[in-house]
Amino acid sequence: MSEIIELLVKLNDPKFQPIEQFGSARLRRIAKSVCSESIQAETLGGEIASRLSKLSPKSNVANGFKMAAEDEKYHADFFRCYQRKYWNETDSQYSQDIDILRDELLGDTDFSSLAAKHAALEAMATVEFDYLSKLFDTTILGEGYSRARIDELRHVRLGVSVVRRFPPAKIEPIIEFIFFKAMPPRKTLIFFSNLLQVDYISIYNDFKSSINDLMRALTVDKSLVNQFEEEFYSEEINSYRVLPEDDDEDEDEETTSPSPDSPDETDEEK
Ligand SMILES: [Fe+2]
Ligand SMILES: [Fe+2]
Repeated sequence: MSEIIELLVKLNDPKFQPIEQFGSARLRRIAKSVCSESIQAETLGGEIASRLSKLSPKSNVANGFKMAAEDEKYHADFFRCYQRKYWNETDSQYSQDIDILRDELLGDTDFSSLAAKHAALEAMATVEFDYLSKLFDTTILGEGYSRARIDELRHVRLGVSVVRRFPPAKIEPIIEFIFFKAMPPRKTLIFFSNLLQVDYISIYNDFKSSINDLMRALTVDKSLVNQFEEEFYSEEINSYRVLPEDDDEDEDEETTSPSPDSPDETDEEK
């Protein structure tokens, strides 16, 4: 059962109106955009899990992915409800990156291969959700990321167990996918680096160590992983450049409750 359901029930209660403290208007704008993008990402997570459930060779495995698909539905519902409640919006922000991933993943009809790719994406989500839960730690949104993360960790374990039980015929294309598709793009790493005010390399290392854990769990040959990592890293270094910080003027005012005389805040539900 998803950890997020309890929050979803609260959000649907009209009497539940906590004041969300984002610390600054800039962080609040980022929360708005990340929440919106999460709807699309969670929807894709649910589509892949339900595809895996259909491709599963055994019914107990199929059930595991069916439950994972339900978790993702609750996650998407949480971000959708949150968006409606606090920003009075219903659209999710369209991300082309997620669309490209969808085509790539839904084009793979091999159960073990898709399960391994899915596990890698879930592992990357656990790192991102950890950052987001810390960034928004005084808010329901942050609590949502923290609870969704517990589910994603369970999905990674499910993926690892089935990939070990049904090893993919070819591992190389999967490792290539993990480094060049599942690993967040450089712009995402820079985004977190600027936002968390930690250097790019330590952000890179957080994602990379999550990949290493996954590779170890999948008992992938280390020299093979090193070979892909070297290729990835050289591309990364060649094209690496720090983007300027986004030029949002970083207003310091604490974001508080919606107030009629604050035009930036009037989009919250009254
Ligand atoms: Fe999720
Ligand atoms: Fe998940």
